[in-house]
Amino acid sequence: MQIAPSLLSADFLHLEKDLRMLNESADILHLDVMDGTQVPNISFGFSVLDPLSKVVTIPMDVHLMVVEPQRWFKKVADDGASMCSFHYEAALSHTAEYLSQIRSLGMKAGVAINPDIPVERLFEFVDKADFILIMSVFAGFGGQKFIPASIERIKALKEHILRSSSDTLIEIDGGVSLDNAAVLREAGVDIAVAGSSVFKAEDPAAMIAALRQA
Ligand code: DX5
Ligand code: ZN
Repeated sequence: MQIAPSLLSADFLHLEKDLRMLNESADILHLDVMDGTQVPNISFGFSVLDPLSKVVTIPMDVHLMVVEPQRWFKKVADDGASMCSFHYEAALSHTAEYLSQIRSLGMKAGVAINPDIPVERLFEFVDKADFILIMSVFAGFGGQKFIPASIERIKALKEHILRSSSDTLIEIDGGVSLDNAAVLREAGVDIAVAGSSVFKAEDPAAMIAALRQA
């Protein structure tokens, strides 16, 4: 299981220090962009993303929690991201079209889904997405409690992926910690996003290694 620490929980007064630590210890850097409309919070935008690529050497994964995500795909690609996801709830009938736009910009394309939407709605997109992002908390804030029902959603999606001989990856986001990492890996998770469990740890690099080996 690859570990993608979420910058949302990093120390914003010493970002460069955290980024250099992540370059050495993490597989992917997860970046949460929120607009205050699609989700009830505002995080950071392009003025933060743009300079990151000068320091970050691991793949950047931009999780767009915004309305009209398609307006920003090109900008995300220009800022050096290699993975980009948007929310199904913000795309609905445009989901396949947006996935294809992200791919044509040279990025891996992902679609994210909140815990209250049936995961089966995404089954038709497994062939069009490089990864599916299952939210295990409601999108908007770091530090929330993992929703246990997410495990069954991952298993159902994994079964569908295997049945359709697709190589789409499953990414999980929200409340990931040492308490659930092994169960998540067994259920079929390929990439685990982890914010507070990594950055609140006494030794974040050791926590990343522990999550990866869980
Ligand atoms: C929440 C974000 C997450 C968040 C995860 O909407 O998508 O990426 O940073 O943080 P933790 O791991 O603390 O739940
Ligand atoms: Zn996220």
